[in-house]
Amino acid sequence: MKIAILGGGGFLGRKISALLARDGKLDGVSVTGLTLFDVAPPPVPEGAAFPISAIGGDVVALPAAAIPADTDVVFHFAAVVSAQAEADYDLGRRVNLRGTDAVIDACRALRKPPRVVFTSSVASFSGGQDAILPDAARQIPANSYGAQKAMAEILLADASRRGFLDAVCVRLPTVTVRPGRPNRAASGFFSGIIREPLLGLEAELPVGDDFAVWICSPRRAMDWLLHAAILDSALMGLDRSVTPPGISVTIAQILAALETVKPGASKLVKRVEDKAIADIVGTWPAGFDPLRGHRFGFGRHESLVELVRAFVADDLEATRADRGL
Ligand SMILES: NC(=O)c1ccc[n+]([C@@H]2O[C@H](COP(=O)([O-])OP(=O)(O)OC[C@H]3O[C@@H](n4cnc5c(N)ncnc54)[C@H](O)[C@@H]3O)[C@@H](O)[C@H]2O)c1
Repeated sequence: MKIAILGGGGFLGRKISALLARDGKLDGVSVTGLTLFDVAPPPVPEGAAFPISAIGGDVVALPAAAIPADTDVVFHFAAVVSAQAEADYDLGRRVNLRGTDAVIDACRALRKPPRVVFTSSVASFSGGQDAILPDAARQIPANSYGAQKAMAEILLADASRRGFLDAVCVRLPTVTVRPGRPNRAASGFFSGIIREPLLGLEAELPVGDDFAVWICSPRRAMDWLLHAAILDSALMGLDRSVTPPGISVTIAQILAALETVKPGASKLVKRVEDKAIADIVGTWPAGFDPLRGHRFGFGRHESLVELVRAFVADDLEATRADRGL
């Protein structure tokens, strides 16, 4: 099986390439080649028993080598994330919409339509704190990033119907805890209030303790994205998008889990007003009722305490080293 990861140098791209290099298989089938693509050639994970090529470039002007002719699975993660896409409309629309268009054209040119696993987002919905949305809820985005993700989902569903490719769009919750440095996602503070105190650093919190958010761990995100690569898409019908079963948690519950793992750590979380961020995340629904996600076999989520412990086990030391702490 040949795999390409667009956005392979980012958080989720690096995690999935490391897992593929470690396991060497997807659904019991040996991986025979991996192509990583990002604005700069992504780091190549160690230990793979198959060839890996790393290519730099712009997803909007996608070089043919980014998706080699016999590719079976394309993970399309390349994106400009939420707060940045809101701050820079031209950049967000260019990468998130025209980039997806370029991926569709590249797949059309292949002999065999590949599975395309696309990362959509909870940010393509609105409804705010009172909303627990069913699968049939309409996407009414309240930010440009969410609008671009919703449009990309429709383009990919239509390209699937036409047989150019075979898409599964996973509407990821906010993936928490994000390792490394803070990024330009509006949701970055949900990770920051766990990661920074575990590093002994202060973190800023721009929403109240009763604010509810739909999240998932990096471990679960990896399971789901790999599952999306092998799922029987005939089950999905014309609707190629799925909300996997994340968890709806409040800030108070996140801080309590942090205290369980590291007593005293939550004292490092400082309440700081940030209207721009609070306005973006305040429109996102507090949760979903992901019946299709369950039906299609996306695995259930673990507890919040397990999520915090997994960050300590998987990413804390690497984050410390990466940031020279
Ligand atoms: N992390 C989350 O919480 C979350 C939640 C929902 C959806 N998503 C989506 O999942 C995907 C991966 O997220 P992530 O957290 O790894 O983000 P990330 O920012 O770490 O990775 C995205 C990558 O895309 C690359 N990229 C940006 N513009 C590009 C261009 N013009 N050409 C080529 N590459 C380009 C970036 O360099 C970056 O490495 C994204 O599509 C994101 O929108 C993430």
